[in-house]
Amino acid sequence: MDKALEESIKNSVKPLLEKARDGDWEHTLRAIEYARYLLQYEEGDEEIVIPTLYLHDIGWSRVNFDDFREASPDRKRETPSLSLHMKYGAVLAGEILRDVGCEPEKIRSIVSIIAIHDEPDKVFAMENPSATLIVEADRMDRYGPESIDRFRAMFGGNYLKGDQWQKAAVYLREGLELWFRTKTGKALAEKLARDTGLYD
Ligand SMILES: [Fe+2]
Repeated sequence: MDKALEESIKNSVKPLLEKARDGDWEHTLRAIEYARYLLQYEEGDEEIVIPTLYLHDIGWSRVNFDDFREASPDRKRETPSLSLHMKYGAVLAGEILRDVGCEPEKIRSIVSIIAIHDEPDKVFAMENPSATLIVEADRMDRYGPESIDRFRAMFGGNYLKGDQWQKAAVYLREGLELWFRTKTGKALAEKLARDTGLYD
């Protein structure tokens, strides 16, 4: 995508993501790297995928996420703050994209994906290849080695140890079936899962 436009978006989201959950800025950068890889082999519009990923989690900067922090891995998707971060994120993303001069049609498309990005079934139902890659790149970051450290930073050092690790591992193994649609996405998620010991 246009380098100047990417820089403007990056500069706008960085301070927001640094105010969001621990590690959200780094998560965003990793998700973008995963997306660049997926885009080499799968259908998708870089001009949608990359800006959407920069912007997808900025809503966390406006939400009190104590409920999310305290919920067990399999319950997080039911927390009010999870829906709120999508709603606020969509609004904030629209404002930023207008400020940087993005075209209205692109803004509509990006905002519509951000508003549901943590509901993979809804996103896949759009049958929009770019939206599919966004879910895959975002969720991919749950399987890499950095993600385990990130979850501990976010939820405390005992997270993902003992019983809780077993529960999370089951949830993440199920996620491999639910959150990836493309051949490249599935293969990379499987590889990362194996490398981080999800099957041990
Ligand atoms: Fe999110």
